[in-house]
Amino acid sequence: MKYSITKNISLFRYQYDKKKLFEGAWPIKDGVSVNAYLVQGNEKTALIDYVEEGASFDEELKDLGLTVEDIDILVLNHMEPDHTGGLRDFFKRRPDIPVYCTKVASTELISLYDKKDAHVIKPMEELDLGGTTLTFVPLPNVHWPDTMGTYVKEEGILFSCDAFGAFGETKSVFDDEMTDDERKLLETETERYYANIVAPFSNFVLKAIDAASALELKMICPSHGILWRKDVKFIVDWYKRLATYFAGPREKEITMLLSSMYGNTKALADELVKKAEEAGAKMHVVRIPDDGVSFLLEKAWRSEALVVAAPTYEKAMFPEAVYAMDLLARKGLKGRKSMFFGSSLWSGGAANEYKALAEKMALDVVDAIDYRGVGTEADRAKVFAAFDQIIAAVK
Ligand code: FEO
Repeated sequence: MKYSITKNISLFRYQYDKKKLFEGAWPIKDGVSVNAYLVQGNEKTALIDYVEEGASFDEELKDLGLTVEDIDILVLNHMEPDHTGGLRDFFKRRPDIPVYCTKVASTELISLYDKKDAHVIKPMEELDLGGTTLTFVPLPNVHWPDTMGTYVKEEGILFSCDAFGAFGETKSVFDDEMTDDERKLLETETERYYANIVAPFSNFVLKAIDAASALELKMICPSHGILWRKDVKFIVDWYKRLATYFAGPREKEITMLLSSMYGNTKALADELVKKAEEAGAKMHVVRIPDDGVSFLLEKAWRSEALVVAAPTYEKAMFPEAVYAMDLLARKGLKGRKSMFFGSSLWSGGAANEYKALAEKMALDVVDAIDYRGVGTEADRAKVFAAFDQIIAAVK
């Protein structure tokens, strides 16, 4: 779909198939948009980013009375195939189109699409389209090393690539048009997008925010999700907060990763949930594998404390819980106040595996307790005592 942003700038918005996994990994039952932008100067027209393989923007161009032949310049803010997969076909139709991108992107352009003649931008290089100027702003590692933003100084618009993006499909295009339901959707879908896609690059996000703050920003147009024009500061501050969770401080909340085979671990987890409620502590419980690691990442990323509840499975931790912890580690989750408990029968083993993983993640471990069956009174007392320390950490 095509939408007007200004008199000479258009959004080409493509909706991902909700049944697919984004990046082949993350569920998007509420959708995600892929945003590209057409900037028409008095002399030249530039398309900023493209779309996944099998799709094109022919219809959007037609809406403007244009075809691919009318695009003079292709700007690629980064090379991930959600924004470039369709270029394989596009380059067959426009083999000589000038491409502007970063040096790293120029090598990826060869590896992926065998296009060898990209114009490698210099930081803050300008390109005059005739009364409208594009400025190329390197934003490395947000989310890939090749990433840049493209800024239109006459309008104060930053096309920010994956920075300031979100999962979630909305009918609204701009922040000031959002319904209450859309706002509610984006509350979690922005944080899930951040935790799933951007989190490991949080230090680079903070640098990108510094770079963006040096520009006069009237509008932020990311490559996924809503466009921000009424409250640019809101999304910048939100992303700053999300990036700050990497090293802390974080929200005074507890996330529990809960795996249970036959209910013995869940029974004790339910008691802890009640205890947290009584103490007025905010707690998110994410069942693994039932709810999915994508949602665990979202909640754990913002939380100061991580409780892992998982049974022993063949002398080690329940495999799905191990996978979930490994993913948390890969995404840069570290330093949380943490504890472990779980039921076992003919042997323990999960607690030791948790301790090894927790060490890798530099978690601040209160205790790790395997117990037989439903646990003795002494086992339960140990779990409750550890949980008291977790609650104290978020009060
Ligand atoms: Fe939306 Fe990193 O691609």
